[in-house]
Amino acid sequence: MMKKALITGATGFIGVNLIRRLLLEGWHVHIIIRPNTSMAILGNICEQVTVFTHDGSALNMLNIMTEVKPDIVFHLASLFLAAHQTKDIKPLITNNLLLGTQLLDAMAKNDVQYIVNTGTSWQHFNNDNYTPVNLYAATKNAFEMILRFYTSSTSIKAITLKLFDTYGANDPRAKLFSLLQKASKNVQPLAMSPGEQLIDIVYIDDVVDAFVTAADRLLKREANSFEEFSVTSGRPIKLKDLVEIYIQITGEILPLIWGARTYRDREVMVPWNTGQSLPGWHAKVTFENGIKLIQRIEDGGL
Ligand SMILES: NC(=O)c1ccc[n+]([C@@H]2O[C@H](COP(=O)([O-])OP(=O)(O)OC[C@H]3O[C@@H](n4cnc5c(N)ncnc54)[C@H](OP(=O)(O)O)[C@@H]3O)[C@@H](O)[C@H]2O)c1
Repeated sequence: MMKKALITGATGFIGVNLIRRLLLEGWHVHIIIRPNTSMAILGNICEQVTVFTHDGSALNMLNIMTEVKPDIVFHLASLFLAAHQTKDIKPLITNNLLLGTQLLDAMAKNDVQYIVNTGTSWQHFNNDNYTPVNLYAATKNAFEMILRFYTSSTSIKAITLKLFDTYGANDPRAKLFSLLQKASKNVQPLAMSPGEQLIDIVYIDDVVDAFVTAADRLLKREANSFEEFSVTSGRPIKLKDLVEIYIQITGEILPLIWGARTYRDREVMVPWNTGQSLPGWHAKVTFENGIKLIQRIEDGGL
């Protein structure tokens, strides 16, 4: 029997890579998008998934869940903002709390038991149990409290994977590597912080592997009702050194000016390092190999 997955955040960088992997493994994939979501990133896998457009209401979510009745839900949808402005409060709450709550309620009403949720290492500023770095991370914490309510009052079982930085080929997000790739094509110098912060960065295939491992743990009934794990590279590295390795491997000439911008307010200098690891999973792709893989994929060699 084909296993059925329902995925939110399917058009995000991690979501699209997760879909590819699930399709390869023979899953029947259903995705929830918004009315204005562009499906361009999905390319030719569009035809292999069943798409539901959520109108934002709890009733519509309930109808989607009733129709799909998935074996498992992967909840990746989120609005990420490093710093928020007043106008961002509503979208942060709507995307990071309301959507997930509607999802959980619809699961409970349909007896859909398993969910892999996505958290962030930024929920643990200075390694504290409850000190989010910013409002985005605070909404992730708040959602975990809601998740705990559902896992304690219904048959829902959840694993939250707390992610660090992620990277991979064809990443449309304005993350470190896309910025470096852009900088190498520009004559315009890129203003950098002093670069002493440690970065914990995990290659996309390893991240996807963590989602699949977590799903397997839930489906094999090995999980408790509420679990959370850290998806760490296990090898944090100073930003300056990371960029140095990138330059050595790619041979790109980067017009970077270190120290031209100050650290962010509440910059994470040492990433969370006290999280529990996901049983059966560890990051396999070293940073050096990850960069080489990206080059090969983007050059069409893979
Ligand atoms: N560095 C990292 O990658 C990192 C680190 C820590 C945690 N995470 C977490 O990992 C997850 C995936 O990250 P990502 O980088 O792949 O995300 P992304 O590229 O920023 O994409 C976000 C996705 O969420 C969807 N979404 C947002 N609000 C929605 C809503 N109200 N209804 C339906 N869909 C909605 C977006 O849909 P549209 O296309 O419609 O916008 C998009 O598919 C997120 O939960 C993020 O917080 C990522």
